[in-house]
Amino acid sequence: MPLPPDGLSPALPLLRPARPDDAIALTELYASAFEVPWTALAMLATLMADTTLGVVAEVEGRPVGFVLAQCAADEGQVLTLAVHPAHRAVGVGGVLVRTLLQTARAQGVHRMTLEVAVDNAPALALYRRLGFAPVGMRRGYYPAPDGGARDALVMAASTLADE
Ligand SMILES: CC(C)(COP(=O)(O)OP(=O)(O)OC[C@H]1O[C@@H](n2cnc3c(N)ncnc32)[C@H](O)[C@@H]1OP(=O)(O)O)[C@@H](O)C(=O)NCCC(=O)NCCS
Repeated sequence: MPLPPDGLSPALPLLRPARPDDAIALTELYASAFEVPWTALAMLATLMADTTLGVVAEVEGRPVGFVLAQCAADEGQVLTLAVHPAHRAVGVGGVLVRTLLQTARAQGVHRMTLEVAVDNAPALALYRRLGFAPVGMRRGYYPAPDGGARDALVMAASTLADE
């Protein structure tokens, strides 16, 4: 794990469930991580849905990353995963997804799927490390700000594989 400039170990994130009152903070976090933003209203609606499972990582009382999934019966789908640029590459994303898989498993979800842009190397590395494997491809799935579109890889993992 890389050390910050002051030579101290990076603060370990506190992990907790996402709540509706996180809507504004998570909308801002999302905007720091993606080119096409979510509205605060869309974030609030997602956080309020009974089917949403969400985990927030906090450092010094502030959200620095989050993951949201939609679960129904024994299947779940990761809706989004974002870590603030200042807190990347120290394992926050990995611990968020690992915690999501463990929480989902405890709720009876056995399989989790997701879409990821084919050129998103950090996300692909993280998902592969946690047992996700490719199961399909969606052509032109992600709109790009330049008017183009990027292909998405569909990946799936057994939540039981995380034991
Ligand atoms: C993807 C994202 C959540 C990862 O968060 P993170 O906290 O940096 O994740 P981790 O530190 O746990 O793991 C990152 C992995 O990417 C690797 N990585 C980092 N930068 C990389 C790069 N430029 N190219 C390739 N791999 C890279 C790290 O080595 C690590 O790999 P490892 O798991 O094999 O050790 C974060 O980069 C992000 O928010 N990106 C923008 C939003 C996004 O793309 N979300 C995912 C949508 S599906």
